[in-house]
Amino acid sequence: MKTERFIYNLNYPANEKESCELEVRSLFQFDLKGKVFFETRKVHPSVSPFLKNRLEIIFQASTFSEIIESIIIAKIAAPDFMVKYVELEKDDRRFKKRREYCKAIGLIIEGFPCYTAPKNTFGITFYKGNWYFGKLAERSPYWKAHNKKPNAYSSSLDLNTAKVLINIAGNGDISKRLIDPCCGVGTVLLEGVWAGYDITGWEINSKVAESARENLRHFNYDVTVITGDIQDIEDSFDASIVDLPYGNFSFKNDENQLKIIRNARRISNKIVLVSSEDIREELVKENLKIIDHCKIGKKTKGAFMRYIWVCDVDQ
Ligand SMILES: C[S@@+](CC[C@H](N)C(=O)[O-])C[C@H]1O[C@@H](n2cnc3c(N)ncnc32)[C@H](O)[C@@H]1O
Repeated sequence: MKTERFIYNLNYPANEKESCELEVRSLFQFDLKGKVFFETRKVHPSVSPFLKNRLEIIFQASTFSEIIESIIIAKIAAPDFMVKYVELEKDDRRFKKRREYCKAIGLIIEGFPCYTAPKNTFGITFYKGNWYFGKLAERSPYWKAHNKKPNAYSSSLDLNTAKVLINIAGNGDISKRLIDPCCGVGTVLLEGVWAGYDITGWEINSKVAESARENLRHFNYDVTVITGDIQDIEDSFDASIVDLPYGNFSFKNDENQLKIIRNARRISNKIVLVSSEDIREELVKENLKIIDHCKIGKKTKGAFMRYIWVCDVDQ
């Protein structure tokens, strides 16, 4: 039987609902309903643009005093700890009394409370008739750090999309080897290495490739970026993440885009593609099996819309 050890809490902007749902399917293999879910799989919230926090359940009870009793009996101890109330339900009336709940727990945990840089953070929450106490993991305050990379250009992806692409390509399994064969200034590489993947970049334009290297060096990441054409890649990978160049032609008439797809197929078992138009028919013609897809809507009027395609390669 599946024992759900973690409670996840997420949020997304309306235009990224579909990409959030695709990310959840890729990381947890289920269809998202609502913004709170219970899961067995451990994923750190910092790798996702949508996950806010994760509570690893230690005790569940129908009353707060039972939680207190369980903590006393188990002699929960932790140096430099902090207790936070996690608001999961919008109209949670207990939230107003959060300081009292946290204080009551803080007084019985063995160890010293620490509010500036706690080594252990505990969470307490009430959700659908039950109290939950556990270890709380929150997004690192640096989860958006790569937005301050030294080099960006008009074709760069946004941070949220780059994180989502990594999670779709790797399914949260950091033993997978990934490649971004048209890496631009390295937006996807930065999120890949941050999440712990072995990821490599290729880029045909030497100046752009150097900008990617500079971006990676800026954050002290050790990632190889090779200047070259995708057709010269000889190694093979679990997945390619391909943000197709935005050509002057439609996909059907663009030889370079077709070449990129054929080569991504040659070097990887799975392809996660980003396109600016609906290329479903063309992908099928290329013998790619589309296993999932989504649209990233426009944030503002006139903004760019993108498609994400997840394809299995039938070798
Ligand atoms: C849409 S941009 C990628 C942007 C990137 N995701 C980022 O956020 O910085 C596509 C990149 O593919 C590169 N490119 C085009 N044809 C290529 C090829 N045949 N092999 C490798 N890279 C190629 C272009 O120079 C361009 O930088």
